[in-house]
Amino acid sequence: MKEKLQELKDKIAAAMVGGGADKIEKQHEKGKLTARERIHFLLDEGSFEEIGMLVTHRSNDFGMDKQRIPGDGVVTGYGTIDGRLAYVFAQDFTVFGGSLSETHAEKICKVMDLAMDNGAPVIGLNDSGGARIQEGVSSLGGYADIFYRNVMASGVIPQISAIMGPCAGGAVYSPAMTDFTIMVEHTSYMFVTGPNVVKTVTNEEVTAEELGGASAHSTKSGVTHLTADNDIDCLAKVRRLLSYLPQNCEDKPAILPFELKDETRLQLRDVVPENANQPYDMRDVVNGIVDEESFLEIHQNYADNIIVGFARLGGRSIGIVGNQPISLAGVLDVNSSKKGARFVRFCDCFNIPLLVLVDVPGFLPGTDQEWNGIIVNGAKLLYAFSEATVPRVTLITRKAYGGAYDVMNSKHIGADLNFAWPSAEIAVMGAKGASEIIFRREIKAAEDPQAMLAEKEKEYQEMFAHPYRAAGRGFIDEVIDPRDTRRKLIKAFAMLENKAARLPKKKHGNIPL
Ligand code: HXC
Repeated sequence: MKEKLQELKDKIAAAMVGGGADKIEKQHEKGKLTARERIHFLLDEGSFEEIGMLVTHRSNDFGMDKQRIPGDGVVTGYGTIDGRLAYVFAQDFTVFGGSLSETHAEKICKVMDLAMDNGAPVIGLNDSGGARIQEGVSSLGGYADIFYRNVMASGVIPQISAIMGPCAGGAVYSPAMTDFTIMVEHTSYMFVTGPNVVKTVTNEEVTAEELGGASAHSTKSGVTHLTADNDIDCLAKVRRLLSYLPQNCEDKPAILPFELKDETRLQLRDVVPENANQPYDMRDVVNGIVDEESFLEIHQNYADNIIVGFARLGGRSIGIVGNQPISLAGVLDVNSSKKGARFVRFCDCFNIPLLVLVDVPGFLPGTDQEWNGIIVNGAKLLYAFSEATVPRVTLITRKAYGGAYDVMNSKHIGADLNFAWPSAEIAVMGAKGASEIIFRREIKAAEDPQAMLAEKEKEYQEMFAHPYRAAGRGFIDEVIDPRDTRRKLIKAFAMLENKAARLPKKKHGNIPL
């Protein structure tokens, strides 16, 4: 009995130190925490309960029978974040490089299954050399078991992936199928094929950091939604992100206590410049509307002509999508449409109401956009808004031109309430372009064509460069004073709290992917 107990104690001790003190030191030298330290910073203190601590791999090949380390390179279990249940797995790079064996995969699948059955988020802390090379197809099968569960869990429970070390090869497809990916700057990377393969196949020389570091994926590819300065920052961001989300698709996000007081925001009167062609930062509108310091921007440095993120409004969690006039005049293009669509669909999955801020001159013209599929990609955003059944409120701050007016959560595609500021301009196109087309003959025949164009532009502007025609048709529910926006929106979302819209019965739609 005593011997058995001692054996168990030794195993637990071995599991706690993972691959050994020297490997832990190496991990720290790289600026990385160990799997257990990460879990400590992620979860509420003392809340972690480990599952499968003593599991070892089953491989006997390549001398692996002499190297069975308890835990097998991944720490799994559950705990709480701000008092709410969360499941977690943290790959332990100190054990076989965090590589994924059959049993390592089984441990991850076990917590994913528990998370699904109990309706709580699952957070993966990824730090792995990929498939356990000694195990061959058993390891590949293990990955596929995880991928399958990622898909089944999609839209049921929030899934968050923190990339805190290597994540390469097919392994990248698990984070890619979760809802949010957060990468740590300089210590993490993701790619399907690494620099050596790239060099062999394309003769291109590139470092791992350039190819798949946090900077590349947060600006160029859009693979990562957030980046973090270090491990602790990363785990704090996971906690913050979760605070806006419900536990599962049948739950609603928590509402913080709030009392309606004087919600006038004078600063909102001055955000939109007098000159309609002058840019301004849509974040100033966001921050003027939402609860103080509550805006968490997602995909901040990717497709920055649209902004998306979470915030609180009167204590309620909302998702915000807004055109961004300081980048490409807020035009919609391929990447911004994809970015917006993905965010809208996430919010719709998890009952997070949407606020849409519109200042859009249209879609970006050009061969680059057409050949990269602006048609099919713009359609994604249109589709995503149209099928969203969460409360949807729109505010047009300035331009809402052409097809982009329809796409940006117009009344016609199911928005619940549509507001406009007096500065809104709702038309098929801008005054200059429109006048050049419809008054072409008059302008050509005029003694002074420039003066005639200016006159016609003015005429057109007086006719359309305001929200009152749209309001007259009921497409805009109310033209509001910018100062009153916050109060109006708080009341609007409270009114829509119990919205229960249903889509027609179908297996699933066919979004233009
Ligand atoms: C088994 C592995 C391993 C792996 C690393 N190790 N990767 N063991 N299978 N995939 C082990 C190393 O042998 C070493 O063991 C320890 O982990 C630490 O690795 P190092 O190389 O010393 O660390 P570092 O210098 O930091 O380099 C990290 C690394 C490198 C860049 C990740 O280890 C590497 O290139 N690993 C192989 C990556 C790879 O090709 N994986 C397969 C990808 S394909 P010791 O005992 O010496 O400490 C794939 C397919 C997935 O994953 C398909 C899904 C569908």
